[in-house]
Amino acid sequence: MSTNKKTLKVGMIGIGMGAAEILPAFDALDHVELVAGADPDPIVRKAYQERYPSARLYETDVELCRDKNVDAVWISTPNRFHAPQAILAANHGKHVVSEKPMALNMREAEEMVLTAERNKVLLMAGHTQSYSTPVRAMRRVISSGALGAVRAIHLWTYSDWMLRPRSAEELDPDQGGGVPYRQTPHQIDTVRLLGGGLLRSVRGTTGKWHPERPIAGYYSAYMEFEDGTPCTIMHNGYGYFVTEELVPWTKGYIRYKPDERAAVRKAQMAGKRDEEAEKQTMRLGGEDQGRVFTEWFSSNTWSPVDLGLVVVSCERGDIRHSKNGLYIYDNDGVHEVDLKGNMSAGMRQAELEEFYEAVVEGKRLFHNGAWGLATLEAGLAVTDSGRERREIMMKHQVAVPDDYDTDFPVPYLDRK
Ligand SMILES: NC(=O)c1ccc[n+]([C@@H]2O[C@H](COP(=O)([O-])OP(=O)(O)OC[C@H]3O[C@@H](n4cnc5c(N)ncnc54)[C@H](O)[C@@H]3O)[C@@H](O)[C@H]2O)c1
Repeated sequence: MSTNKKTLKVGMIGIGMGAAEILPAFDALDHVELVAGADPDPIVRKAYQERYPSARLYETDVELCRDKNVDAVWISTPNRFHAPQAILAANHGKHVVSEKPMALNMREAEEMVLTAERNKVLLMAGHTQSYSTPVRAMRRVISSGALGAVRAIHLWTYSDWMLRPRSAEELDPDQGGGVPYRQTPHQIDTVRLLGGGLLRSVRGTTGKWHPERPIAGYYSAYMEFEDGTPCTIMHNGYGYFVTEELVPWTKGYIRYKPDERAAVRKAQMAGKRDEEAEKQTMRLGGEDQGRVFTEWFSSNTWSPVDLGLVVVSCERGDIRHSKNGLYIYDNDGVHEVDLKGNMSAGMRQAELEEFYEAVVEGKRLFHNGAWGLATLEAGLAVTDSGRERREIMMKHQVAVPDDYDTDFPVPYLDRK
């Protein structure tokens, strides 16, 4: 179906596994076109060219940024490249989306924000999960005031993150490897959205429990919002127990069944795993492309996967995920709210739509550099606080605007 909307021409920098996950959202939107791609890996370049025959392919980020026919770049490279490539692209006048984590440290993130401002381009922090239908609906119920003020937020997950194949970069803490770098952006972005944005302090801890995996596979944190609202987040990626088991309508596992998890773990402990080869199968063009999340993305029912179980307590009620949307507990009882839509795939599309509307239609970009910087600040504090064994005060927080997503439809709010 064609629309009369102006086309946004995007170049993808880094065409790996994460990129394979966002491509279906690009394919679904007529008004966003992938016109270029850059990756040093010839296998993914070939697969991308086959999928987008008219796209221009480059080996390096610089060549893509020099392409005058690219309006914006989507950076989906390993974590250590996010800041330098965002700065490079902004200096070439391109609008930028950076996958999470936005950067490895605050200095880099601040430089990204300043460079985008100086070049008058938009910078978006691609945090993905807070765009999911249930999280947006939760925010809408909270901001409607139907249940009174938010009083507590808890978000926990147990996943198989540490068992999935990882590249050398992902196994290096100095290059942003590990569950805290990769998963706090999703969880913190979500709780900040639900709690209003302004965290006051973070007291966290991380865990590096397996010598064969030199990165942290666990974190937990107690965080307080400016108004005193408490919040806990937790991700255990070691994959013994996974949260899916608690949710009856899911298949009960994420990527690996329990016996597969045991086999992967034993191979890992014995040093008998070719992770680079396994990971290549999950990148664009590989036979397992997007296998972790394909089923989840195409499903109409919610499952916790990597974000986890969220429970928001308000003065007069609780909110949590349900199979088709949300359970809302209020003074009249329990309501299952059917959000009638794709619970997860929609989030990648919503992310891309927000970027398109900001760049092309001049609407406000909510997940902008300042918002991303605030999420990164709290994420880094989880690790720093654990190392220093003290609470860390926040300095860079920004609030959720009052008019954020106010037209997002939630049937519960229309009831008589
Ligand atoms: N938003 C999400 O939900 C989500 C999901 C998955 C991954 N990600 C993010 O995507 C990023 C990549 O993760 P991945 O699992 O896809 O890794 P990956 O290794 O599969 O992909 C990275 C790709 O970048 C390429 N690359 C490396 N250096 C490059 C350079 N200098 N210029 C251009 N390309 C380069 C690699 O060849 C590879 O194809 C990570 O930062 C991760 O956090 C985000």
